[in-house]
Amino acid sequence: MSATLLDLKSMTAEAIARIFALADHLASEKPGDRDFFRFRRGLTAALVFFEASTRTRMSFETACHREGLHPIVLDSALGTSLEKGESAEDTLFNIAAMRPSVMVVRSNDSLNMEAMASVLKMPILNAGWGRKGHPTQALLDIYAIRKHHANLAKQRILLIGDIRHSRVAASHFELAPLLGYEIALCGPESFLPETPGRQVFKTLEEGLKWATVAMALRVQLERHPSQTNLQSYHQEWGLNPQSLSALEASALIMHPGPINWGVEMSPEVMKDRRSIILDQVSGGVFLRQALLREAIGGIG
Ligand code: CP
Repeated sequence: MSATLLDLKSMTAEAIARIFALADHLASEKPGDRDFFRFRRGLTAALVFFEASTRTRMSFETACHREGLHPIVLDSALGTSLEKGESAEDTLFNIAAMRPSVMVVRSNDSLNMEAMASVLKMPILNAGWGRKGHPTQALLDIYAIRKHHANLAKQRILLIGDIRHSRVAASHFELAPLLGYEIALCGPESFLPETPGRQVFKTLEEGLKWATVAMALRVQLERHPSQTNLQSYHQEWGLNPQSLSALEASALIMHPGPINWGVEMSPEVMKDRRSIILDQVSGGVFLRQALLREAIGGIG
């Protein structure tokens, strides 16, 4: 695997298996174990988040601490020179000049992350890039599924809702052919990709009967002026005890977060024993530790 991770197109199934195996090993370690804390003297990781985040930023921050990398964090524009009009590109050039060992970047679509990665002389990890992709989220989703269903090629993931604006969906479309799982879609017409290129279920019930994994996606109100009535959205596409009666007992319920409660799902879903939503978050730390360790290679 190349040290930079902007998308999943260039990954291989072998590289992903290696990352998952390393994440498993890291998850098995305990404080006090000989290698639990790898102190890497003077090495930093720049976490540059031009857009809001809770899970991804704090997960990478936790992963940095466990990997003995000191995180230096830009958390949105507030209090930075972005407020004075400095561009995202200039911000990245200046942070790169501080010589972190790796940069983790979240931005909107307008940043050309590929162009930046080609000029910055360090590994760049995409932590959510507009609608283009969220590769570490898709990897951690599959890492979480794999704990329950080892045979990924037999999994049928139903993406529900705002697929058109979802970078998580975009990354799953890249990852599925590598690992062999199937994806089908359901949701309002205006939330589906213009050319879906895969099975689309007309009703949530039909989709849930087909799925081994039901993955609800956040209605991204900040990315489009939705005309959607959120209450009727929930009635038609929301996960709740009634709709989930169509999902088989061994299936899994997931959401990348943050959740719009009462829209994508009702609060009772968190108590459903098929829900692995917080396991996605827990496993994500080990997965990101593994990605950071791969990115910085033998340094430290
Ligand atoms: N899943 C995800 O990217 O969440 P955050 O926006 O909180 O990082």
